[in-house]
Amino acid sequence: MSIIKNSLGQSHDIVRQVVAKGDCVIDATAGNGNDTVFLAELVGESGKVYSFDIQDRAIENTKKKLADKNLIDRVVLVKDGHQNMDIHVKEKVRAVMFNLGYLPGGDHNIGTKGSTTIKAITKAMELIGTNGIISIVVYYGGDSGFGEKEEVMEFIEKIECRQFTVMKTEFINQVNCPPILVCIEKLS
Ligand SMILES: C[S@@+](CC[C@H](N)C(=O)[O-])C[C@H]1O[C@@H](n2cnc3c(N)ncnc32)[C@H](O)[C@@H]1O
Repeated sequence: MSIIKNSLGQSHDIVRQVVAKGDCVIDATAGNGNDTVFLAELVGESGKVYSFDIQDRAIENTKKKLADKNLIDRVVLVKDGHQNMDIHVKEKVRAVMFNLGYLPGGDHNIGTKGSTTIKAITKAMELIGTNGIISIVVYYGGDSGFGEKEEVMEFIEKIECRQFTVMKTEFINQVNCPPILVCIEKLS
């Protein structure tokens, strides 16, 4: 195993640093449920995870993964777009995780889109408390194309620096468009 983790591993390391037992957090893209399980374990029995996806298949896959690990009680599964997260979440959250792109093993034509992703990031920036983290793993190239990545990068570069710190990590000597990690921390 290498020392430098991929973007997903790095996103977990950063989120793990800020989330404690009892916290409320959001998985903005449930997919096959891996990040929801990760968050559900971090927040413990007394915490809560809201997990969003627009596809029945993703919600079902996530529900099954949670049930297998006896974690379902602390997770609210929401079949709705993450751009509507403020309708469903009425409390401050400690972290919001995005894992962009399409459902692995699913329809590659149903993926996240720049316009709705940016709306959701904007709402996540409202919902997180001070020192809360938004992590975004940006898949691009291949069936995901480049449009969403470009829109998201353009948006995050303009985020007000007195209120948020924005970090981008990318692998610059790899082939096939390795995913980029973006993290946003709320300062005040
Ligand atoms: C790369 S997958 C997520 C992988 C997931 N985090 C995991 O651990 O398995 C991206 C997911 O985003 C979902 N998605 C696309 N648009 C969405 C939206 N507007 N709101 C919420 N989820 C969306 C897709 O249906 C897909 O399941």
